[in-house]
Amino acid sequence: MSAIADILSRGRVLLAPMAGVTEAPFRGICKRMGAGLTYTEMVSATGLHYTPDSPTSTALLRLDPAETPAAVQIFGANPDVMAEQAARLVERLGDSIALLDINMGCPVTKVIAKAEGSALMRTPELAAQIVSAVAQAVSPLPVTVKFRKGWDSASVNAVDFAKRMEAAGAAALAVHGRTRDQFYKGSADWRVIAQVKDAVGVPVIGSGDVFSAYDAVAMIVQTGVDAVMVARGAQGNPWIFREARALLESGAPIAGPTATERIDMALEHGRALVDFGGERAVIRMRKHVGWYVAGLPGATYVRTKVDQSATFAELEAMLLEYAEFLASHTSLMKEGQ
Ligand SMILES: Cc1cc2nc3c(=O)[nH]c(=O)nc-3n(C[C@H](O)[C@H](O)[C@H](O)COP(=O)(O)O)c2cc1C
Repeated sequence: MSAIADILSRGRVLLAPMAGVTEAPFRGICKRMGAGLTYTEMVSATGLHYTPDSPTSTALLRLDPAETPAAVQIFGANPDVMAEQAARLVERLGDSIALLDINMGCPVTKVIAKAEGSALMRTPELAAQIVSAVAQAVSPLPVTVKFRKGWDSASVNAVDFAKRMEAAGAAALAVHGRTRDQFYKGSADWRVIAQVKDAVGVPVIGSGDVFSAYDAVAMIVQTGVDAVMVARGAQGNPWIFREARALLESGAPIAGPTATERIDMALEHGRALVDFGGERAVIRMRKHVGWYVAGLPGATYVRTKVDQSATFAELEAMLLEYAEFLASHTSLMKEGQ
């Protein structure tokens, strides 16, 4: 079995990279919940080149013991810098790294301005040089590329781009079915994902609009991809991996989390994030709590309260109080039946 086939055999539903969201503690949780593979947030090769030990890069490259071996994603536009930093990363992370992924899909203006991220879809020759240089530098570690449908609706080039990346040495390809112009809006085009799958011989991972276990199975069935990635669908919902695994393996759905499980997970996540990033990480936890409680009674009020908590102790007290409120709410509802 090839290295990439071996990696993908651990599960067909993967946690997508999300800058500012998928920090190590959350990735560990998703892996324990059944994600086949987790990806770090994107890390700048240029940043690593100039300040290899900066607190930002160090935090981005810390892996949770539960997730290893994990996929590490880098971005940049200079083939030499990318190759050099990729080799260093492999040395630094050793057996903890499953594959090195190159970001060619980021739509953010600051990144595009440096010809990085999805801007590389407009310079496929440079993109191919990067893949070839990085693949040589880290061989035999698999190098993969994550890109989009194209730059805009007038320049959809995912299929041609995929073929070029494969020829340049990519071991697998992840394609997000939106153009750069769409950012994260509109719906993802799964047909283009299917076209990429048909056009190349290496494994293809589909990304875009997998918000439930059913979506994961539907994308696999409709596009024929080897694996799918979950991005926004995993926010506040790491159970999606367990649910998708069950649906794929047995064809039968399993129950989603209870309100208590959601609050317990928010607490576990918060505790792990503070252990990882210090007390200030509570601020970054606020959005996660909002996602965990979304749809529960009183969620809006909870979000307002969470936005005022500055320490983990405050956050914990607030969530425990909310759990009690939910418990009494549930018994009131039962009494009223
Ligand atoms: C907040 C956020 C941050 C993201 N950061 C990254 C990133 O660092 N690297 C990357 O390749 N894609 C990134 N993405 C794109 C996702 O990995 C994924 O391809 C995209 O969100 C489509 O999937 P979805 O419809 O399931 O959300 C990000 C998406 C979001 C919403």
